[in-house]
Amino acid sequence: MKTPALHLSVLAILGLVVLAGPPVRAAEPTAAPAATPAPTAPLKDSHGNTLRRAPTGHITNYDEDKVPPYTLPDPLVLQNGQPVHDADTWFRQRRPELLRLYEAEIYGHVPERAPQVTFAVVETDPGAMNGTAVRKEIIGHFGDKPDGPAVHVHLYLPAKAGGRVPVLLHLLFFGDPPASAPNGLHRFNEVGPVADILARGYGYATFRYTEVQADSAGTYQSGVIGLTLAPGQAIPAVGEWGAISAWAWAASRVLDYFETDPAVDARHVALIGHSRLGKTALWAGARDPRFALVFSSCAGEMGSALSRRDYGETVDDMAASFPWWFAGNFQKYPGHWSDLPVDAHMLIALNAPHPVFITGGTQDQWADPRGEFLAAVAAGPVYRLLGKKDLGTGELPALDTPLLTGDLGFLYHTGAHTIAPADWNAFFAFAEKYLKPAP
Ligand code: GCU
Repeated sequence: MKTPALHLSVLAILGLVVLAGPPVRAAEPTAAPAATPAPTAPLKDSHGNTLRRAPTGHITNYDEDKVPPYTLPDPLVLQNGQPVHDADTWFRQRRPELLRLYEAEIYGHVPERAPQVTFAVVETDPGAMNGTAVRKEIIGHFGDKPDGPAVHVHLYLPAKAGGRVPVLLHLLFFGDPPASAPNGLHRFNEVGPVADILARGYGYATFRYTEVQADSAGTYQSGVIGLTLAPGQAIPAVGEWGAISAWAWAASRVLDYFETDPAVDARHVALIGHSRLGKTALWAGARDPRFALVFSSCAGEMGSALSRRDYGETVDDMAASFPWWFAGNFQKYPGHWSDLPVDAHMLIALNAPHPVFITGGTQDQWADPRGEFLAAVAAGPVYRLLGKKDLGTGELPALDTPLLTGDLGFLYHTGAHTIAPADWNAFFAFAEKYLKPAP
């Protein structure tokens, strides 16, 4: 618990931040600033959790006792008030309705003029990773201009595979696994345990998200979104795609490529993303039922964590800090969370009947791990309606004890905002029920 004195001093610091303006990520510099502002120390509470004062005046809460009551919208009630009693009504009416709401109000829909993507395998190394892997580099060109945006997909296949293999498609912040993983070693946060993945009979593929669309303010005119803007148009229309939709759309285009690759079992592709890319993975799985499974690591606000729960990062923070991730319409909701037509349990449920594995970390309270768990619990009725198994409990499990018995999986790890080795291992145990490599 904070002492009142500490609380006041924190508020005072937060007040200064407000005077200095909202914590918006810096736009591309246009001119030299008149004076260099003094550096501001990151604001943390005594446990090291990020503290923000949003432009709405909302201050980050980390006290369970101070989470106000909230009511989640029911995923199994249509907008016209009719209940959804069967799978048919879910797939024909409620799922499309929720998808449209997510498109229009949250992430933005992909415009019909989205570019064509042309994939070409530019390099194949049959002896990669000391002969254990076949490595392919595949370039996907967006649009028809030779100097237009392009994504580099790196695909590792087990050298001894007899047929098509399931593939883990991992959305990456940085580059190709060897760049960050010399000698086949790996850093767990960014690159998956490639050797282990291959030994399990899976392929492993990556692409760097910013090759599709930049992740900063003022960059709509570049990347795939830029290709869809009319001359002189600076930003997409209010219901059209932000960066998360663009990244998710690109994951689907890579899946299109997999469908053409005779080494890949495209019906068994799992999508993996961490943090903002965990949000992206959930949205990609919601948009595109061809993804067999989603692993969403520490996705937090506007990903796997409930937005109506006032804990950690909120809609108010996110709409101010990362507006380019979303449709313009998302700006309606800071300060009005209960007006959101959806919440994270619905994003997870849109992935049903496909399995979803979610993680959170003790040192990642900003992402609200309990809110991630509660969203997975509240997605349960949709899984059950479709004949699948929910998490199996409504009680937050003990730390480091994965819930793996259902078609929804969850792990609350001791540690940071990362995909830790234990997360990978729990994910493997979860995934093996669904991704069976050919014998
Ligand atoms: C910020 C942001 C989170 C996001 C994270 C990340 O912390 O507030 O919502 O998940 O960046 O992508 O690492």
